[in-house]
Amino acid sequence: MAGQIPQRFIDDLLARTDVVEIVGERVQLKKAGRNYSGLCPFHQEKSPSFTVSAEKQFYHCFGCGVHGNALRFLMEFDHLRFPEAVEQLASRLGLDVPREGADDPQAQQRERRREEAVNLLELSASFFRERLAMSEGGDARDYLERRGLSADIVREFGIGFAPDKWEALKRHLAERGISDAVQIEYGLLVHREDSGRSYDRFRNRVMFPIRDWKGRTIAFGGRVLGDAKPKYLNSPETPVFHKGRELYGLYEARQANARLERMLVVEGYMDVVALAQFGIRNACATLGTSLSEDHLQRLFRLVGEVVFCFDGDRAGRQAARRALETVLPSMIDGRQVRFLFLPEGDDPDSLVRREGAEAFENRVLCAAPLSEFLFDQAAEGRDLQRIEDRERFATAVLRALERLPEGVLKSLLLRELSQRTGVEQANFQALLARADTSQVLHDEGVDDASSAPEDAGETPARKAGARDGALGLVGRLLHLLVHEPALVSRLPESLDWCPDGEGDGALCHEVVRLIRAGGYRNAQVLLAHFHGTPEGERLAWLARRELLMPREARGAEVEGLVDGLRRRHSQRSPQEEYDALLARTQAGECLSREERQRLNELLMELKGGARPP
Ligand code: UTP
Ligand code: MN
Repeated sequence: MAGQIPQRFIDDLLARTDVVEIVGERVQLKKAGRNYSGLCPFHQEKSPSFTVSAEKQFYHCFGCGVHGNALRFLMEFDHLRFPEAVEQLASRLGLDVPREGADDPQAQQRERRREEAVNLLELSASFFRERLAMSEGGDARDYLERRGLSADIVREFGIGFAPDKWEALKRHLAERGISDAVQIEYGLLVHREDSGRSYDRFRNRVMFPIRDWKGRTIAFGGRVLGDAKPKYLNSPETPVFHKGRELYGLYEARQANARLERMLVVEGYMDVVALAQFGIRNACATLGTSLSEDHLQRLFRLVGEVVFCFDGDRAGRQAARRALETVLPSMIDGRQVRFLFLPEGDDPDSLVRREGAEAFENRVLCAAPLSEFLFDQAAEGRDLQRIEDRERFATAVLRALERLPEGVLKSLLLRELSQRTGVEQANFQALLARADTSQVLHDEGVDDASSAPEDAGETPARKAGARDGALGLVGRLLHLLVHEPALVSRLPESLDWCPDGEGDGALCHEVVRLIRAGGYRNAQVLLAHFHGTPEGERLAWLARRELLMPREARGAEVEGLVDGLRRRHSQRSPQEEYDALLARTQAGECLSREERQRLNELLMELKGGARPP
């Protein structure tokens, strides 16, 4: 994709689009007073709790809590990504979507290279498919047959075969003008430093193409035909393939389902393919890595419910515990997660073949909800008749609740915890609030820009997983505003205290402007506005981060933060600012781009550089 879509264009698009029309084309709506209502397309219901407001250009379901604007609706209903939804709205109006920096030569070159890479990977995928059909693919065809895969499913997943030769693909691609260097870069060739020679990475393996959301091949997984090691060989990280982000089978699942409601996450390639062959068309697999925040984001963009399948053994339970930790911060209302434990010794592939699709589907339906798994986990090895064990049980649950965003799920879990321990809810609430204050104290004095999304390649998603993603003053202000936009009324008219050049400062300016401009009284609308941008990720991360501060304390907190920023703004001399930044680099901290730039400026200024004093 070349360049970002300018925000101006998106605003304009939304202004010219009627959400009632967009929704009305897909859901039967009836006028009900000032709004429209209908059966919610995002959950099963018999009486309508889904409303669309023409005035606010906004839809909301009182049943399952989904809401958003026209773009959000298209994304959710048609399973589109943000740029695709924008394209769709634009094409209705006969507009071309402009891209920022589209005529920037660097961006153009990046785009050209991506095209080249995709072309190269597609060429390789068809090469593997052809080899599977030829006589040299005989053993592989036998193998696939032994594994019980039908010709249809092999075709659908684009499965192929890498011949047992050192330079088969290499020659094939070279004849098509693709240099060794490029083949190495995209993981098809392995380069040996010692001999200086390069040869095919994948040899004598059944090849599974890994496809991106548009169906373009971006990498491969290759399985040996026998028992050799490693059993699976995956493409390395390349400019177009990041293992921690991709899910095998997601594209195929989207293709097979007009509407997806639930995704299964399994472990292996074969599991996905076998389930598909048995008509279970909503499974995907992580690629030999554990579940990441990026995976989750991708899944929840597509469906409201995710079911994780784990082996019934100890490793499986361990993986499930890790997955639970990862999902907690993403559990906003309307999302559901369940944990399915398979019988020991089975994987979904073997189980579906033995039991059949219906029995497997039933297992999925009966999988433990997050709440159940969480309580089981906390209770494991403890005798809840004993006070000390109950205390440890409660502590374990509270630790998980701390990581959960505010919402109905959290309240329900808190109530359940109180019932199970016989301790009043208010006591737990106090404990949670205290955990929050210690967090606030811990955050004190950490500079804003240190948590800017682009820092040191840390994505906000990854940071969300880390408990200590400390927020600076501006970050904390944004955090409050995202959770409660109405707090904007506690801010002074002028924003001169807010550093607009660094870290969250610019974003804070923009957020305040939007909330003040009206129409952004709700955090979801605010998030939808920024969706698909780095700012959007930052805000979504802040929205997921729990805000445990009691409502009545928030106004004063906002005012306190502004005072703090004012003080900093007016008091710091260049020398102090310089010393502070320098101290942080010397302490091994990684400064943001803006901060590094500022440090250079200060250096020039103070040490008699180019600029006159
Ligand atoms: P498993 O070892 O459970 O294999 O690996 P499987 O999926 O059941 O495969 P079959 O049924 O024997 O063919 C699960 C997943 O872990 C990754 C792969 O993504 C695999 O699908 N893996 C496993 C590797 O990346 N490399 C390996 O050597 C093994
Ligand atoms: Mn298997």
